Amino acid sequence: MSIERFLTGITTSGTPHLGNYVGSIRPAVGHSLRSEVESFYFLADYHALIKVEDPGRIQRSTLEIAASWLAAGLDPERVVFYRQSDVPEIPELTWFLTCVLGKGVLNRAHAYKAAVDKNTAAGNDPDSDVSAGLFMYPVLMGADILMFNAHKVPVGRDQVQHIEMARDMAHSFNHRYGEHFVPPEAAIEDHVATLPGLDGRKMSKSYDNTIPMFAPREQLKKLIGSIVTDSKGPSEPKSVEGSALFQIYQAFATADETEAMRQAYASGISWGDAKHIVFERIDQEIAPMRDAYQALINNPAKIEGVLQAGAAKARAIATPFMGQIRHAVGLRTLQTQTDTAAKAAKVALPVFKQYREHDGQFYFKLQSANGQLLLQSGAFASPKVAGQTIAALQADFIAALRNCPVPLHMGPDITEGEITAALQALNAAKQA
Ligand code: TRP
Repeated sequence: MSIERFLTGITTSGTPHLGNYVGSIRPAVGHSLRSEVESFYFLADYHALIKVEDPGRIQRSTLEIAASWLAAGLDPERVVFYRQSDVPEIPELTWFLTCVLGKGVLNRAHAYKAAVDKNTAAGNDPDSDVSAGLFMYPVLMGADILMFNAHKVPVGRDQVQHIEMARDMAHSFNHRYGEHFVPPEAAIEDHVATLPGLDGRKMSKSYDNTIPMFAPREQLKKLIGSIVTDSKGPSEPKSVEGSALFQIYQAFATADETEAMRQAYASGISWGDAKHIVFERIDQEIAPMRDAYQALINNPAKIEGVLQAGAAKARAIATPFMGQIRHAVGLRTLQTQTDTAAKAAKVALPVFKQYREHDGQFYFKLQSANGQLLLQSGAFASPKVAGQTIAALQADFIAALRNCPVPLHMGPDITEGEITAALQALNAAKQA
């Protein structure tokens, strides 16, 4: 079975929350343990610059996200775990892809279009407050993926368009410069729940409705207590439909536990009791990682070391690959070109040799580069006719053979094909 390469990035713009854990960290860690896959996970800090202006927050988020992944069981020995900005080949590749991607494709990107629509609706300039970084976001993401020729990119539905754009970039580049990139595919994790947040909308930094993954136990309890419910009193039957609390529970509970909760809802469990069960269930899964997380957060040097080791593994792939890509597009050292040209010229060509024998007659022979006799002429009375015959042979070997005024003998074990090839090599060298 061939090894499939999976790659995914997580933007370092905030503190990881339970939605990130359930939707991305937990499945990715599980996935990385499979032997038939090779996994690349990275901290997308260049992407974070697009939305976060606070340098301290970028740094803090990078630390927290790295610590979360490691605490959740990601084994940096088994996977390539690195920070995007430690791989300068990625922004370099971004430029190459920028040059093969149609601008119209970027105009149609959902995130960019949403910003434009919002501006238009508000009567503002369409590009008001839209950075060129936001516009270019999909190209940077394409470079992340193509840099390592990932086959599969596990992402949420909202990212599918970006993967299609990466495919587009791979095809355009390959079309121009030869097959260098694998067109990636999105691996949509449909079975993975999108976690609702405290207010029932999707858990997201932008809605400010998140439960931090490593909130201390007491804070976790308080936050779960604040998840919105309806106003049904204790002992009233409750509906699991549209219950954020139930959905969150489901993401952590076994099928049996979920079923039990469904029945508890039907038989009128109080919201307070339900929240207590949910809290204990989540804490049961998170608590063992919490200590590891704290230890890591308190030891940034250790995380830095892990990321540096990851960057070395990533660059062991990226640096030579980028060398190949630079060469493909024509960014080449001039020295090498002169060398190859000189070598090509020296690539030993066959030669025609004209000479006069003691009999006073004129002859020629065609020799291969290594001196093997390919063709030997009979005697010409005039050197001029011998020369004309050579020219005629180069123009059209078969015709010249037929019209030759003197006999021509092929060398021992030489075929017509070999002579034709030798003549073609001479012609090509003359035209070069
Ligand atoms: N855009 C992704 C997100 O917001 C993060 C990301 C950056 C990414 N580069 C990537 C995901 C490459 C997958 C592959 O979630």
